[in-house]
Amino acid sequence: MTTINKAIKLKYMSVLTQDLPKLFDAAADFMPINGTDHIELYVSNAKQAAHYYRTAFGFQPLAYRGLETGSREMESYVVVQDKIRLVLTSPLVSGTAIGKHIDKHGDGVKVIALWVDDASYAFAETVRRGATPAMEPMVERDEFGEVVKSAIRTYGEVLHVFIERKNYEGEFLPGFKKWETPRFTTEAIGLKYIDHMVGNVSIGQMDRWVKFYEEVMGFAQILSFDDKEISTEYTALMSKVMSNGNGRIKFPINEPAPGLKKSQVEEYLTFYEGEGVQHIAVATDDIISTVAALRARGVEFLEVPDTYYDALTERVGRIDEDIEALKELNILVDRDDEGYLLQIFTKTVQARPTMFFEIIQRKGANSFGKGNFKALFEALEREQELRGTL
Ligand code: FE2
Repeated sequence: MTTINKAIKLKYMSVLTQDLPKLFDAAADFMPINGTDHIELYVSNAKQAAHYYRTAFGFQPLAYRGLETGSREMESYVVVQDKIRLVLTSPLVSGTAIGKHIDKHGDGVKVIALWVDDASYAFAETVRRGATPAMEPMVERDEFGEVVKSAIRTYGEVLHVFIERKNYEGEFLPGFKKWETPRFTTEAIGLKYIDHMVGNVSIGQMDRWVKFYEEVMGFAQILSFDDKEISTEYTALMSKVMSNGNGRIKFPINEPAPGLKKSQVEEYLTFYEGEGVQHIAVATDDIISTVAALRARGVEFLEVPDTYYDALTERVGRIDEDIEALKELNILVDRDDEGYLLQIFTKTVQARPTMFFEIIQRKGANSFGKGNFKALFEALEREQELRGTL
């Protein structure tokens, strides 16, 4: 059964208006996070990856770092859409830590950077609470001001970098310059902000990372799903959703559960050769136009059978959207006590069957689409079957 921490749920529900849910007392939230600052992916060809995110996902060029800016060992392209910033980084020489990361994991998320008011305090406090330090607080400066950065480790080889940018006016970060490139017609397609980011961890490790987010980061668990809920005939997984105090940062953590066949999480762990970010969920205010644009640009999505839509109204009740349009685009719908949500998942977006994106539009619902799990996992298993990895 789904278990929601009752005390939290009461608070959570009582303040759901336009504002972000307040899970805690503001005073008790020892480390307020303003939002996701950026996500950095280590990829084998940053230049081409940047082109993909521009062309297919409608991101716009923002900043660049490479030989021309004095960076001799690595090159990064930063793309932006509304509040979402992706940094795509590749090595320029052999033998770097970035190159080793790519050799082991393929393309994937290295950094989930969190925007804080005080990066020195965030580091000191999380380390005092048990975090493994990755980078002591350091100040970076250029003509636009200064930024303080620090970092701690989370699951796998993923880092949380704390970014304090209140004294900075530049495009992105010191060390980067404005990325001057010919603009071509890839208009933004309505992606607004990061709704949540999911981590896949090894069997038996979910509770360890739940504890990490609770004790070290001051997050609270807002939902949990056991293997009976997230299972098909063949495979299963368990998941717990962690949220920070103002609800802007949500990290579901998955671990595989025993099943007859190899689950999607196990496939990820095998091909990523370790724990890491499974999907990045991005929010839109108009999922029909966003997904239509993504499909027109060649982005591939998981497909559910047409029969999914036969029982849709019965399951979710009245919704504003035209069911035929949703069916045409294969967009899924789910309802909870607070409202409903629309969502769709891309196929994996790099050579290895590891990371993918979710596009989500929330209309009151603050859950994660539990009612769609079965249909989705069956769709995922059809993909795994084709890859011979089920
Ligand atoms: Fe998700």
